[in-house]
Amino acid sequence: MSETRVEDYIQSTGDQVHRYLSGLFPPDADRRPERLFEAMNYSLLGNGKRLRPVLCIAAAETFGVPRDVVMPAAAALELIHCYSLIHDDLPILDNDDLRRGRPTNHKVYGDATALLAGDGLLTYAFELLAQPLPVAPEVQLRMIRTLANAAGVFGMVGGQQADVLAERTEGSVELLQFIHTHKTAKLIQASVVIGSLFAPLSAAEQAAVSLYGEAVGVAFQMVDDWLDVAGEQEQLGKPVGSDERLEKLTYPRLVGLDETLRMAEEKLAEAKRALTDADVHAPLLFGIGEFIVHRNK
Ligand code: FPP
Ligand code: MG
Repeated sequence: MSETRVEDYIQSTGDQVHRYLSGLFPPDADRRPERLFEAMNYSLLGNGKRLRPVLCIAAAETFGVPRDVVMPAAAALELIHCYSLIHDDLPILDNDDLRRGRPTNHKVYGDATALLAGDGLLTYAFELLAQPLPVAPEVQLRMIRTLANAAGVFGMVGGQQADVLAERTEGSVELLQFIHTHKTAKLIQASVVIGSLFAPLSAAEQAAVSLYGEAVGVAFQMVDDWLDVAGEQEQLGKPVGSDERLEKLTYPRLVGLDETLRMAEEKLAEAKRALTDADVHAPLLFGIGEFIVHRNK
């Protein structure tokens, strides 16, 4: 798939996800406490790339499933992602003031509301994914378990704890691999796995999608670390140099900028190989993988 076509796909699919998200917590005078819903919408409806829902939809469409069927699951992934950004930016974690080109949630609503807005998004993600969906109950349970595993102690929460503990330490590539896989790749992997679960895949196809998700997820975080050094604040919508300020363990710190990008390309090749080896024809997933590695924001 050509670069422009994939960028158009990401843009238009992301816009559609955005519209769906806008309808989740619409302004409603009776909604209490109004401030909480406002804070949730503030982060949910910011200018994000919507990559996780886009990956979820792309995985489903690769196997012939229409996107309207997948939308609640795709949205659940974005809710989890948004919650993690709100909490990650809090003063007790990364203490960042800018996200998606705007003041962070706690800068606008205060720490207590930001914390609860994150909790609200996290919990509602499961309410969304547990609503009646046109899949067999055991498949839906597997989706819910996949999301919980990716977001929780065996995934993002565990990775975040390891990330915090690794600040100001010498670290190692092995530890950094653990952090990247858990903090970031697991949710990205869950995005494609959940999308593909809407279709009746063979075990080999399912394994290939899962491997693809983990590899592009790790590549995503390598490039995120690279952008934190070499990117532009205006493009990123968040400050550069945040990792250095917090003395984070990152690939640029351990292996340098060029090697970080080379490793991300290697991960992309690994992701593509997993699909090709299982005879999965997935130009969309190839294209989104390229976008992830070559992005500037
Ligand atoms: C940027 O995503 C986000 C990451 C690179 C993930 C970093 C991991 C965390 C913040 C985990 C935090 C975990 C807890 C439990 C607090 P993006 O570039 O897709 O952002 P966008 O949606 O704004 O485009
Ligand atoms: Mg962080």
